[in-house]
Amino acid sequence: MFLRCLSVPTLAMLAVAGAQTQDAAAGGMAFQQCAECHSPGESNGAGPGLKGVVGRRAGTKADFVYSPALAKSELVWNDIALDNFLANPQKALPGTTMQYPGDDDPKERADLVAYLKTLK
Ligand code: HEC
Repeated sequence: MFLRCLSVPTLAMLAVAGAQTQDAAAGGMAFQQCAECHSPGESNGAGPGLKGVVGRRAGTKADFVYSPALAKSELVWNDIALDNFLANPQKALPGTTMQYPGDDDPKERADLVAYLKTLK
């Protein structure tokens, strides 16, 4: 109903931003599939702790050893980069050591990104 009020250019902008409605609480539930490798805090597991990851340059947590693919990517983890990476890590960053097949649900990815934003 809300979408019906938006003009076509606005919808196009939303699509470009990959902007689904973001629900951090749902993202926290979805994060269970990440938690075997990632803590929401500073501590590292198989993957780096994800506190503060949104807005950070990819592959720059000082105490984690990244793959060259991630370390040299020059990505900054914004909404679009995260959405793209979580959809298919190997496709987004060939050679990444993140052993996660990807999440093909755009809404769930948006929720995950919303949750990651709460990790400050
Ligand atoms: C099987 C383990 C594993 C799972 C499951 C996993 N990851 Fe990862 N993740 C990694 C590893 C390892 C890296 C580092 C990859 C590299 O260096 O190429 C990583 C890197 C990342 C990064 C980049 C961090 C940085 O500091 O640049 C983000 C963001 C991320 N993962 C988010 C997620 C999310 C969200 C999920 C769940 C949807 C998830 N990961 C699932 C292991 C995992």
